Amino acid sequence: MANILCIGAGFVGGPTMAVIAQHCPEHRVVVVDVDREKVAAWQSEELPIYEPGLDELVRATRGRNLFFTTEIERSIAEADIIFVSVNTPTKTFGQGAGKAADLQYWEATARRIVECSFTPKIVVEKSTLPVRTAEAMERILSSNDKGLEFEVISNPEFMAEGSAVKDMQQPDRVLIGGRPTPSGQRAVQEVVDIFAHWVPRERILTTNLWSGELAKLAANAFLAQRVSSINAIAGLCEVTGADVSEVAHAIGCDSRIGPRFLSASIGFGGSCFEKDILNLVYLCESYGLPEVAAYWEQVVSMNAYQQMRFVSKMIAAMFNTVANKRIALFGAAFKAHTSDTRQSPALAVCRRLVQERAQVVLSDPRALASARAALGGLAGDITFEPDPHLAACGAHAIAILTEWPEFAALDYGALYRSMVHPAFIFDGRNVLDHRALHALGFNVYAVGRSPLTHFQTPLEQALLTGGPQRGEGRSPSWAS
Ligand code: NAD
Ligand code: UGA
Repeated sequence: MANILCIGAGFVGGPTMAVIAQHCPEHRVVVVDVDREKVAAWQSEELPIYEPGLDELVRATRGRNLFFTTEIERSIAEADIIFVSVNTPTKTFGQGAGKAADLQYWEATARRIVECSFTPKIVVEKSTLPVRTAEAMERILSSNDKGLEFEVISNPEFMAEGSAVKDMQQPDRVLIGGRPTPSGQRAVQEVVDIFAHWVPRERILTTNLWSGELAKLAANAFLAQRVSSINAIAGLCEVTGADVSEVAHAIGCDSRIGPRFLSASIGFGGSCFEKDILNLVYLCESYGLPEVAAYWEQVVSMNAYQQMRFVSKMIAAMFNTVANKRIALFGAAFKAHTSDTRQSPALAVCRRLVQERAQVVLSDPRALASARAALGGLAGDITFEPDPHLAACGAHAIAILTEWPEFAALDYGALYRSMVHPAFIFDGRNVLDHRALHALGFNVYAVGRSPLTHFQTPLEQALLTGGPQRGEGRSPSWAS
């Protein structure tokens, strides 16, 4: 039996430890956090985060071999293996502000471990960190005057929110990086043995420490790059008459490219893509690789542009003003099946529309509380309405900002009848049947597709003149 501890009871710490507890009943798994309210929520019937399958999993393991507590000191003292999954946000001050990872929570944790330890331990980096953070961790840990030995292991987490439990139950791979020394390899093996309880051995990859750290940042950069790439193509589709879904399908049929992560959208959100890429950019700059830094930074710039372009399209379509117009925003979460609104493009769209003095009504099946907290201080006309029918009633427009299946299943005929006409739908996730909506009377704008309208705004006319037919895109100057 081992005492496994996780420091940080967030989106990663809670679910990861619940899965380990489920598959390793012989181990005692403890999760600690400095946030008392969060720990209390983990101990209650209302968990602090929503993830499909998580309630059941926690119910089955909590109190058996999974425990949530604020007793950090005692938990560290008792632990054999410590996973650290504290937050590593983008630094907002001083050197590297806006790009570098803020490692203050990380370092505070390392110092706490040294302080409270009386036996040797394996310390596992679960948080996403700049390459070579393990070296700093080792230095802090080895500064102890008790003669204790610590081994640092990199075990980055690849789960995505909304499918966290499934991703952890059936991971594409588990990555475990360690030192090549005999004690380093013994520590790697101990961590491998935990995951081998349910992950096939061939999916457990062992690497050196630095590859482990860098692979995590690189994987997020590659994923985000795909979203920015398809969104860049979406912009071109909208002015040429090509359909981004058809283009994505055609691209994705190439087995070298593959079909996943090619959905055009209002841009990627979530707590990690932007921060991890900016962290990668900062690392490249710090290591004297400005061209590499600029290459990755463009993925983030493209994402900001995509969000801004979506709002500009809304304003242009609605006769160049949204002031005092009620606009129903369907979706606040950064993606479906999560209550998380961190870096949500939906909130970015919301903020822009509020600046334009629209009357914004936000609806989301799971993320309204988080949206309310995030937008709390924003001056302007925002209402939070759980019922999308009530949100749309009397609205000039609906914008789909999160791809919740609930939104695709609504009665759009009834919504249309309750709205101000002409009525607009802006589908920022391409999840609705656009032709059917157009037939109902809506003016429909999607991402990466020509609009389906019952009239042309002056801007659309300007965009489309020179082109063949309305809705079929325009030709470049060299073709006319
Ligand atoms: P989170 O903010 O949800 O949770 C982090 C928790 O750590 C918080 O509850 C905070 O109170 C706690 N904490 C901070 N300092 C502490 C300390 N000194 N002692 C005890 N607790 C402390 O963050 P998260 O989303 O779980 O992400 C954690 C790490 O995992 C980040 O590095 C992130 O990049 C990475 N990651 C996140 C995801 C994801 O989908 N959210 C996926 C993979 C990797
Ligand atoms: C992402 C990665 O997928 C995980 O592997 C990683 O562990 C995690 O970041 C992390 O390090 O935090 P997550 O951000 O939870 O997971 O969710 P994703 O499914 O990757 O979606 C991210 C954003 O991209 C969402 O806003 C989503 O709507 C958007 N997206 C995704 C698109 O716009 N189009 C797509 O085709 C895919």
